[in-house]
Amino acid sequence: MNRIFSGIQPTGNLHLGNYLGAIRNWVALQRDYDCIFCIVDLHALTQPQDPVQLRNSTREVTAAYIAAGIDPERCLIFNQSTVAVHSELAWLLSCYTPLGWLNRMTQFKEKAGKQRDMASLGLYSYPVLMAADILAYKATHVPVGEDQKQHLELARDIAGAFNRRYGVEFFPLPEPQIFGAATRVMSLRDGSKKMSKSDSSDYSRINMTDDADTIALKIQKAKTDPEPLPGDEAGLANRPEAANLLGIYAALTDATLEAAVARFAGQNFSTFKKELADVAVAVLGRIGGEMRRRSARGRSPSHICARSRTSSACCAPEAGSGRGSRVGSGRDFRPAFCRIPRKLALPSRIAAVS
Ligand code: TYM
Repeated sequence: MNRIFSGIQPTGNLHLGNYLGAIRNWVALQRDYDCIFCIVDLHALTQPQDPVQLRNSTREVTAAYIAAGIDPERCLIFNQSTVAVHSELAWLLSCYTPLGWLNRMTQFKEKAGKQRDMASLGLYSYPVLMAADILAYKATHVPVGEDQKQHLELARDIAGAFNRRYGVEFFPLPEPQIFGAATRVMSLRDGSKKMSKSDSSDYSRINMTDDADTIALKIQKAKTDPEPLPGDEAGLANRPEAANLLGIYAALTDATLEAAVARFAGQNFSTFKKELADVAVAVLGRIGGEMRRRSARGRSPSHICARSRTSSACCAPEAGSGRGSRVGSGRDFRPAFCRIPRKLALPSRIAAVS
């Protein structure tokens, strides 16, 4: 069976972009694929994190998965830091990844900004950890929003480099699944910027836990332009805010952008925004309520998913650390005096978020 791996960082507020670009598609795909949905807490450590907040966000993302309709009986749900092979395989794969490939990553350039030399090695090599997440399970498909496309191309390149090096077809080349009418949801304050957890303005995004009044207010205040809505898709050129809001409407109602444009052709924004608010509240209100209830119960991924024993699905030991591993490293030679002194063990507050 084809296997899906995807994940979300537990950093800040989950928003409409995460829902429409990722989670919503996962719910539909879980019927036809073997699915692994991870809460990628090691990725979150590429930026400074408060340990208590990170634990809470990990629970909130888990609650979002379940509230949105991911079935834990059918899918594997766990947080990344509980399965050591992600980091282990990331190291191996980093040895097959030329620096030139990482230098092309636009997300690193954006996040590091002008302080490039001060950015952490983790932020720089983050796409290799992402490749390891996917390849550790030999995932064949990866449903994500458009902003992750470049990272997925890199994962395919790394898998290909490994396979070529050993003359094998060991890792499948994972296929990105980027679909729906809102693969890149933009900020409600600026149609040229991606909706993001880290935007300082809460009015730039609709959080998955916002209540009905807040959702309606944010849509009412969303930036627009002075023209009525266009009669066809071509009329959306150079109107980023109109394109974004109509794309959101189309995605929330399971329609095409073309149908959404036709539905509101020639109308003013205020009428359209009222209808958009109604559909957003209908979809997100229920999910947000369920998330708040689940988060209040404080259940962690390991409580929610009894099936989180990933070792049987995982191919990382075969790749590089078990007996007979492809790369020739691994457990054949056991150092006699290798015991980690207690004081060197990871502090529990960052070691396990579960
Ligand atoms: P993250 O946590 O930034 O986002 C999680 C998912 O939400 C999508 N997304 C969006 N989609 C549409 N519009 C937006 N404005 C928007 N913002 C976010 C993202 O594309 C993503 O699908 N590196 C990843 C997490 C990750 C991962 C993986 C994903 C780590 N390992 C392996 C897939 C497979 C990230 O930071 O996503």
